[in-house]
Amino acid sequence: MPVPRHIMPYGVLFKFFVISTLISTNHACNKADRESLSSSFDAPSLNWSSSSDCCHWEGITCDEDGRVTHLLLPSKRLHGGVSRSLGNLTHLSHLNLSHNLLSGSLEARMFLSLSYLEILDLSYNLFFGEVPLSLSSSYIRTVDFSSNQFNGTIPFSFLQHAWNLNSLNVSNNHFTGQIPSSICLRSSSLRVLDFSHNRFSGSIPLGLGNCSELEVFRAGENTLSGSLPSDIYNAQALQEISLHSNRLFGPISENIGKLSSLKLMLLHFNNLEGPLPPPLMNCTNLVEINLGFNRFSGNISVLDFSELTQLSKLDFVANLFTGILPISLYSCKSLKALRLAENNLEGQIQPEIVSLKSLSFLSLSENRLTNATGAMKILMGCKSLRVLLLSENFLGEEMPDVDIMDESSGFQNLSILSFYRCQLTGQVPLWLLKLKKLEVLDLSFNRLTGPIPGWLGTLPSLFLLILNHNLISGEFPKELCRLQALVSQNAATQTGYDYLELPIYYQRVNASVTPLQYKYLSNMPRAISLRNNSLSGNIPFEIGQLQLLRELDLSVNNLSGEIPNQISNLTSLERFDLSRNHLSGEIPASISSLHFLSSFTVAYNNLQGIIPSGTQIEGLNATAFEGNQGLCGAPLPNKCQQMNISNDTKDVHASNGKGVPWFHFSVIFGFIFGFWGVCGSLVFIRSWRHAYFLFLSNVKDKFLAMAN
Ligand SMILES: *[C@@H]1O[C@H](CO)[C@@H](O)[C@H](O)[C@H]1NC(C)=O
Ligand SMILES: *[C@@H]1O[C@H](CO)[C@@H](O)[C@H](O)[C@H]1NC(C)=O
Ligand SMILES: *[C@@H]1O[C@H](CO)[C@@H](O)[C@H](O)[C@H]1NC(C)=O
Ligand SMILES: *[C@@H]1O[C@H](CO)[C@@H](O)[C@H](O)[C@H]1NC(C)=O
Ligand SMILES: *[C@@H]1O[C@H](CO)[C@@H](O)[C@H](O)[C@H]1NC(C)=O
Ligand SMILES: *[C@@H]1O[C@H](CO)[C@@H](O)[C@H](O)[C@H]1NC(C)=O
Ligand SMILES: *[C@@H]1O[C@H](CO)[C@@H](O)[C@H](O)[C@H]1NC(C)=O
Ligand SMILES: *[C@@H]1O[C@H](CO)[C@@H](O)[C@H](O)[C@H]1NC(C)=O
Ligand SMILES: *[C@@H]1O[C@H](CO)[C@@H](O)[C@H](O)[C@H]1NC(C)=O
Ligand SMILES: *[C@@H]1O[C@H](CO)[C@@H](O)[C@H](O)[C@H]1NC(C)=O
Ligand SMILES: *[C@@H]1O[C@H](CO)[C@@H](O)[C@H](O)[C@H]1NC(C)=O
Ligand SMILES: *[C@@H]1O[C@H](CO)[C@@H](O)[C@H](O)[C@H]1NC(C)=O
Repeated sequence: MPVPRHIMPYGVLFKFFVISTLISTNHACNKADRESLSSSFDAPSLNWSSSSDCCHWEGITCDEDGRVTHLLLPSKRLHGGVSRSLGNLTHLSHLNLSHNLLSGSLEARMFLSLSYLEILDLSYNLFFGEVPLSLSSSYIRTVDFSSNQFNGTIPFSFLQHAWNLNSLNVSNNHFTGQIPSSICLRSSSLRVLDFSHNRFSGSIPLGLGNCSELEVFRAGENTLSGSLPSDIYNAQALQEISLHSNRLFGPISENIGKLSSLKLMLLHFNNLEGPLPPPLMNCTNLVEINLGFNRFSGNISVLDFSELTQLSKLDFVANLFTGILPISLYSCKSLKALRLAENNLEGQIQPEIVSLKSLSFLSLSENRLTNATGAMKILMGCKSLRVLLLSENFLGEEMPDVDIMDESSGFQNLSILSFYRCQLTGQVPLWLLKLKKLEVLDLSFNRLTGPIPGWLGTLPSLFLLILNHNLISGEFPKELCRLQALVSQNAATQTGYDYLELPIYYQRVNASVTPLQYKYLSNMPRAISLRNNSLSGNIPFEIGQLQLLRELDLSVNNLSGEIPNQISNLTSLERFDLSRNHLSGEIPASISSLHFLSSFTVAYNNLQGIIPSGTQIEGLNATAFEGNQGLCGAPLPNKCQQMNISNDTKDVHASNGKGVPWFHFSVIFGFIFGFWGVCGSLVFIRSWRHAYFLFLSNVKDKFLAMAN
């Protein structure tokens, strides 16, 4: 009978175990545990077979009896499912399988027998399905299921024995249903609860108040509604409340003052409303407050921020606050980023703002501030300032004139300056010449006159220049074609400042989509927009030097002459708008080298000739070419007269009568047909590639938004 075949090895092994136990102090592993391990993963990346004593295997720790207690295999490129046999490791206390490619759903029964489990980390895998009904261990301290694809609800029974739970992280999954805040009733020692980025809905139920040691509560990026639960203010150890990107409404209670340990308060993108309760200022440990994109109201000047000495970032963008800039804010000496944009603030920027020595990001756009010149003279003194957004204020004032003599005068760190939509009069001011770190300049939607100064081309870091919708005249200056950050990759990567303390929102003119959000400066497009001015003259051929340019908008001007052939050098170009000028001549065939071009129009010019075929522009909407009397060929409906192709072999039939001879017709038809046969797929591939790139950049933006 088959008996001896496997009895023998075990006998030998057993002797080996006994001997090795006698020789060393190590304990040979339990035979059943070894089998359970061997069959639990498909793990070729582990060299587990190298020794028969599983207590010496990589990632394994045993207790004195040779029972496996720790199974720590993070980042081991494990894949496939986890077998139920793992549940036979009944002495397991630490299980860490994070950062692998494990998939499948969890066997509910597996956890019933793991009654000594303390640490369970399955984060960063590809697990899906529902979580087990119950973890049987009452020793469990940490449960991390984050960054997987789990779905379903988190059942009430899941943590019913978890008296000692410290941390629960289920963020980044597809969980639905209510947030199980009743956990606090059993697990009074909870410190961390992270439910963010799931599909939890309903209101946040009562129960958090019983978590007297809770420090971190995150449930942002779900679809939670209702108001903040009244007992959340009893969780007095809270250091972080992060509930952004939900549908919460109602006010913040006066009781917020009880959360004196609070450091982070992230409630942006909700529908919260009402005035901010003054006791908020009792939370003197606050480091970051983000209440942006809500409906908070009231006179902001009555709030006294002066006790918030740790405050580093304050973002109230897009609310309904009124009043003047609170002077008390200037006592928050740690303040690095301040955004009060899109409110109803009035008055002037006060000189006391210069006491904010670390202030690097200031956005006051879309308020009703006055005295632009005064503002700039004061802000020159904020030596750390890198981002200054003052759009939609100072209506109808003059473009401020300030004296920047040398490096010590101020604005020497300024990377972004925006006076978008201020209706300022005057010209592009000369003091910009001194801002050697300027990377982004937006003076669009003003009433600026005069020329585009050539010296703009000497700004070493400028890569995004937005001057559209002004009254600027003169020619497109050749000097602009020397902008280092658009010419040379070396210069472009040298632009030092990148990380933005708060994300910047950027929207194209007439774009119906929600604005793009940028967390890194270098992700903003390298672009020049001069749309809707009074520029005249030719487009200089030197434009071909701006090789890194991704968007160029020269539309709605009086530009004339031909489209220079050198635009073929702009190989990074994705959007190109020349519409509504007086350009003449033909569309250069070299445009076919612009492989990334996804948006292009030359509508309403005096262009003529055949639209270059075999390029992706042929796949565009006909509206991109309309309003040009002389243009013909696809995608326009009017076909080109091909008569002059054959001056020598003049077709007799062609000249008599209006009908095109069938022979010619068929040749043309055949030509077009054959052409589509070959190039149609090229067009398709190119547009697919564009779609792919757009998709990528969207994902990146989403990621950036999440990173906030
Ligand atoms: C796990 O234990 C069960 C029952 O105790 C047994 O039937 C099964 O064979 C074991 N699995 C392994 C891989 O040891
Ligand atoms: C194989 O495992 C042993 C411990 O079990 C470890 O010391 C060794 O580094 C491993 N070898 C490789 C190539 O991973
Ligand atoms: C699991 O292992 C990773 C990598 O070593 C570590 O960062 C993580 O903290 C561990 N998880 C727990 C809960 O200790
Ligand atoms: C939860 O896990 C995610 C990764 O999946 C991590 O980014 C996040 O910081 C964790 N939450 C807490 C509160 O540590
Ligand atoms: C969870 O996802 C699986 C597929 O991954 C699906 O079959 C199941 O219906 C989902 N369950 C719920 C409750 O959505
Ligand atoms: C939970 O908190 C409520 C009040 O917030 C209190 O009445 C109740 O006794 C607490 N329960 C436990 C178990 O601490
Ligand atoms: C805020 O602090 C002041 C004293 O600093 C105290 O009188 C007041 O009661 C506190 N308010 C709250 C809501 O804690
Ligand atoms: C806001 O409060 C300040 C200081 O109390 C006051 O001077 C100002 O008139 C108020 N503004 C509004 C709009 O209520
Ligand atoms: C503008 O601000 C400057 C600097 O604070 C100040 O000197 C000047 O009087 C202000 N002008 C007006 C009209 O308020
Ligand atoms: C094309 O770009 C390269 C690199 O910037 C530059 O050296 C060259 O002069 C450009 N050619 C034209 C025709 O502008
Ligand atoms: C071209 O664009 C116009 C206006 O944007 C639109 O109405 C029309 O449907 C488009 N045609 C095609 C073929 O996409
Ligand atoms: C055809 O003839 C016209 C005028 O006679 C001339 O301008 C043109 O260059 C000729 N085209 C070719 C292809 O020979």
